[in-house]
Amino acid sequence: MSDDLDALRGETASALAAAADLRAWDAVRVGTLGKSGRLTGLLKGLGGVPAEDRRERGAALNRLKAELEAAIEARRTALEAAALEARLASERMDVSLPPRAHAPGGAELGGIHPISRTIEELTAIFGAMGFRVAEGPDIESDWLNFSALNIPDHHPARQDHDTFYLPAGADGRRPVLRTHTSPVQARTMLGQEPPIRVIVPGRTWRADHDATHSPMFHQVEGLVIDRGITLGHLKGCLIDFLRAFFGIGDLPVRFRASYFPFTEPSMEVDIGWNRKTGELGKGGDWLEILGSGMVHPRVLANCGIDAREWQGFAFGMGIERITMLKHGMPDLRPFYESDLRWLRHYAADPLSPPSLTEGV
Ligand code: PHE
Repeated sequence: MSDDLDALRGETASALAAAADLRAWDAVRVGTLGKSGRLTGLLKGLGGVPAEDRRERGAALNRLKAELEAAIEARRTALEAAALEARLASERMDVSLPPRAHAPGGAELGGIHPISRTIEELTAIFGAMGFRVAEGPDIESDWLNFSALNIPDHHPARQDHDTFYLPAGADGRRPVLRTHTSPVQARTMLGQEPPIRVIVPGRTWRADHDATHSPMFHQVEGLVIDRGITLGHLKGCLIDFLRAFFGIGDLPVRFRASYFPFTEPSMEVDIGWNRKTGELGKGGDWLEILGSGMVHPRVLANCGIDAREWQGFAFGMGIERITMLKHGMPDLRPFYESDLRWLRHYAADPLSPPSLTEGV
């Protein structure tokens, strides 16, 4: 091949190697393949080559052209990759840095209310057992709050004393402020096919007010519907939950026969504590903590579920109550009084959500 082609190949190669960025690279490209580029010039000059040499020179020029095009393209790819690397390196951020405890404007960071914190903890613990969260409205039909749950018309829970009623609707029945989260059991069974595994944290209402009762309070309901569910599943699930929530690995748990219209058999669940000191986990006394049982076949039937194929258990507990016990709070009322001193004392750090690995 002629010397001028060799020279062009060599010089282009070193110019490409020296091009440190895409701008310099483009200058080499234009200077070689552009309208007035060196290779373009040589191709244009082909006409002046003596006829006997023209064919060979033309072929050599075309080979060189393909070679240079490939070399130029390869350099572009390399430069782009290097530019991306550099950007990634310069934009790297350290996600392990602790967040600032104060908002940028200097405002004090808020805290998580103990009720919300308990709901977060419940969700983390039951979430790890495969439960999802379901919700329902505060204003509930009389049918879902009571009848669907096998609570007959004469049941004491239906008396005005306990229940807040609203003015009657078109059907002549008075809606209620739900007295428990259990109507969401019925809503869930009516709304989806089994298997079901839900918890239902939420507000509940009863006409009651003293140091341990508030007209508005919170419960969490649990419902499991599947094939072959037994009392053993109920017990294992609740023992695991209570030990995880209170952070006491050997917390004594007792199941005591009881009555709820919507479960059969029904059990109340107690945990071990010391009545004198209030300490949980030891002391030989028992403290009632929640209600539970196997879902009554009539409730399954009311919600369109075939009790010969599906069984399940349900439970319900007061969120204020377990929060007070966990944190040694003597009085229920401050939960709703917005006293900043109480809130600062009991609020949870919003930057450390509950984690099962650390113990909620
Ligand atoms: N709904 C009951 C209550 O408010 C608690 C409960 C729920 C009991 C589910 C059994 C099963 O007291």
